[in-house]
Amino acid sequence: MLRLAFPARAVQNIYTSTLARSSTSFTVKRSKYTLPDLPYDYNALEPIISADIMKVHHEKHHQAYVNGLNVAEEKFEQALKDKDVISQIALQPALKFNGGGHINHSLFWANLAPKKEGGGEPPNGELLSAIKKEFDSLENFISKFNTITAAVQGSGWGWLGYNKTTKRVEIVTLPNQDPLTTHVPLLGIDVWEHAYYLQYKNARPDYLKAVWEVVNWKTVAARFENAK
Ligand SMILES: [Fe+2]
Repeated sequence: MLRLAFPARAVQNIYTSTLARSSTSFTVKRSKYTLPDLPYDYNALEPIISADIMKVHHEKHHQAYVNGLNVAEEKFEQALKDKDVISQIALQPALKFNGGGHINHSLFWANLAPKKEGGGEPPNGELLSAIKKEFDSLENFISKFNTITAAVQGSGWGWLGYNKTTKRVEIVTLPNQDPLTTHVPLLGIDVWEHAYYLQYKNARPDYLKAVWEVVNWKTVAARFENAK
């Protein structure tokens, strides 16, 4: 197991214990990250998110983060062997960007579901109570989330996270592929243009307004339950 100065694997545990990895060659005792399969077909989220977007987003963008993470880890492994601290430090941005990209997208796919499989069905129980406690209603939460997330400058993500210190659910935005580490991530919405431009062009608010129709609240509730 590699020792990483940037806690890619530690963050992985926060996000999901099922980040895809596979064993590699017999000459190297490490495994590489792999692109996880989507839990639905590329066209399953239509008309909210087109098959074209899903295919490019998954096959090209997410794959690029997986590839970048594997390259960065290999270089980091060598830098550790060489006791080359300068190189270890220099690799931190690549680990953060590609590791964050892999972690964030792995969660994003699970946070969505086709309508026929429950996508868009509102939460209930303790998750709904926690949301109402902070935002009065689910509708108010979505409105606030969309306003804050639409205002992310450049590329980034909007999150509903669980603050373990305050035991509250909170909205957080982060730039680039920065992984959410201050909260337990419950729901992440990708607002990089690659997530919506082919269908919504530059209208990020329209994408944000629509995406709730395919949010898989069951996975959000499960993550909330585990986070508490
Ligand atoms: Fe993305």
